[in-house]
Parts: sequence; C-alpha cells; structure tokens
Amino acid sequence: MKQTTQRKLQINHTRNKQQDHTAVMDETAAKFRYEDCQNEYWNPEEFSLLHGTPLWEQSTPTQKLILNHLYWVAYYSQIVSAEIATIYFNQTSAAGLYAQEDFRLICDTLDLESSQERAHINAFRTIAKQVEQALFGKLIFTYPMRGPFTETMVYADTNALKTWWKKIQLQYFGLISANNTFLACQYFTVRGVRTLNGKLVQHKLSNYYQKHPQPEVAPIPAKISYYHFLDESFHFNSSTIISHDVINFLPAPTAFERLVANLGVLGCQRDHFHFSAAMNGIFWYDPALYGKIYYVLRSPVFEMSDSDAKEMIRRCFTKESEGLNRSFLTHQEAMESYRIYVEKLGYLWRRNREMSLMGCNSMARCLAMQRRGFRRFEGYFGEELEDLFLSHAKAQRRKEEWESLV
Ligand SMILES: [Fe+2]
Ligand SMILES: [Fe+2]
Repeated sequence: MKQTTQRKLQINHTRNKQQDHTAVMDETAAKFRYEDCQNEYWNPEEFSLLHGTPLWEQSTPTQKLILNHLYWVAYYSQIVSAEIATIYFNQTSAAGLYAQEDFRLICDTLDLESSQERAHINAFRTIAKQVEQALFGKLIFTYPMRGPFTETMVYADTNALKTWWKKIQLQYFGLISANNTFLACQYFTVRGVRTLNGKLVQHKLSNYYQKHPQPEVAPIPAKISYYHFLDESFHFNSSTIISHDVINFLPAPTAFERLVANLGVLGCQRDHFHFSAAMNGIFWYDPALYGKIYYVLRSPVFEMSDSDAKEMIRRCFTKESEGLNRSFLTHQEAMESYRIYVEKLGYLWRRNREMSLMGCNSMARCLAMQRRGFRRFEGYFGEELEDLFLSHAKAQRRKEEWESLV
C-alpha cells in the first residue's frame, strides 16, 4: 500500500478514536424519557411521516408532532437493519483484508466502526421502542433484534422466495469475501453508496440539532441524530479510502470477481429503486408499508374508522403530492451522488456506473405501482381489515402473509 493511502487511513482512524461518540450516545440514550420531549419537533418539519400529503394537511399540531417523532422512529428502524448487516460484513471483509501484509490498520478501523454501530443500534432501539409503547402500547416500526441475513430494506418489494434467495446470496458473499481481498475491498463500494444515501438525510437531521437555539436542552433524539452523523462521517471516509484507493494496490479483478462486484452494486440499485410517499429519503416499497400506516391511522392518535383509514391511504399514496415530489427529488439527488461516487471504478458495468436501473423509476411509474399495490391491499384485506385490527394475533399473522405476498 502506498504511503499516502496509509496516511489517510491513519488520520481517519486516529480522529475517529479521539472523537468517538459511543460513551455519550450510551449516556444520552439512557436518559431518554418521551414525556420530556414529546412537545417538540425532533427533525426539520419536512422530515415527518407523510409530510406534504393529505394526512399532513389535515393533522392537528399535536398529530403533526407525532408524525415528526414517527419519522425518527421509522427512519432509524431502517438504519438499525442496515447496521446489523454492516457489522457482519465489516467482520468478513476484515478477514479478507487481513490476508495482506500491511492491512492491520484497516482491520482495526473496522473493529472500531463495528463497536460504534452497536452503540448506534442500542440508542435507536431504546428510543424507538419507548415512543411506540407510549403511543400505541406495542411496536409498529420497531422489530425484535434480527440477524444480518434478513432483507436489509425493512419494507421491500419481496416475497418468501426472493427473501430466501437474498439470504443465500448474502451468506455466499460473506463466505467468499472473507477469503478474497478484492471482494472484501469492493464491499466498501456498496457500503459507501449506502452511507451516501444515509448522509443525504442525516446531514439535515443533524443540522437541526446544530441550529437549535439551545442545543444543550434540545430533544435527545435530535442529539442522537447529530452524534450518529459525526461517527458516520468517519465510516464514509474509510469506505471511500478502501474502495477508491486501497483497491488499486490489488491485482486486477478476475472475471468472476468482476461479476460478483457488479451484482452487488446492481442489488444496491434494486434496493434503492423505489421512493416513498411516507418517508422522504428512505427508498421503501410503500405497498409493504400500507398495513403499518393503517394501524397508525386507526390508533388513538388519529382515531379513524376503517373506511376513513383506507380512504386516507388511497389519497396519500396513489396521488401525486408535495410529499411524493420531494421524495422523488431526494431519489434523483441520491442517484446523482451515487454516480459520482462510482464514476472512476473501471471494473463496473455501464449500467452500474450510470445507475440506470434506479434511473428507470419515475413519478408516473411510481404512481402506477402504488395504485396496483393499493388495489391488492384493499382486495386482499377487504372487509376483514377492521376485524383484524381488533384481534392483534390474527392481524399479525395476516400482516405477515400480506408482506410475504407483495
Ligand atoms: Fe451507524
Ligand atoms: Fe456506519
């Protein structure tokens, strides 16, 4: 490895160690009490669940606050899933990288990052679970701890077969990259792209704390967003150094290595294909989310009837709105930043360098997909939805069936 690359890695690792937010995140999360900050916004207003949709327009100030808190809860539930996978692949990649003579520093960097992710996950889950218990008496967007081979996107366009196939691919990638320095290095291209996506939103969430008139008394979730953003900046730097610099010191990839690397980036494009009317900046497949939104609308927070809740879902998701337009813009912005990120990686196929799969989505295509999704949602549940809401166990079972169908 060249001296300059070694030096870049050294600076990034040393600074991350010096500024490490693990302890302060643990302490801050432990102090969280929903009643202390439930009357304040935690994110800029546009980062609220279903912001800029008919639901937002007709919500009371208190409901708007809750939608803002729910954005935080849902957003970080996605981050938790991605970080569980990151911890595993940091470890398998470190195994693949440690096979080289002078790569110890990279492995030490990854060890530090993995332990930071565990603190991040703890902070997100501590807060999210408490909020959901307080609002609904049960978990909605939060889920029990899970392993690294589940679908990374919490709400994806998937079914049992696709989920199974994804799991096999992830396990296989972990296995071969642990014994292949090129693939271990290349994992950081995918990690870099995913972190870029996170940075787009998390930068705005962390700014909210920085611009708070009294940051010391700012709501704890806003503080967590800020600390997290700072840790992630170092993670992004290491992804970039490894995937852009370190990779050049390895022999050129074989045809097989190129194939696996390209499939990884293509999978990332596939995961980031959709944009969501409910969550600006998270590329969820909305039909898989309708059931959750239905619960929120039926809950004491909105107290809607069965037919009002369904009608609201139809209006919010299947029609163009300011919220959906903003999400589309974030999707475009993300795509552009991914393109720049992978521009110089010669081993990538053109459709990966140009992000043309992601580029195929459009407002018209999204709306057509939402309408199809809504028809299936309504048709599948029909009149039963109301009954299901009353019986939690039954509802849970049917919800899982629904999610495995869409
Ligand atoms: Fe993190
Ligand atoms: Fe990270």
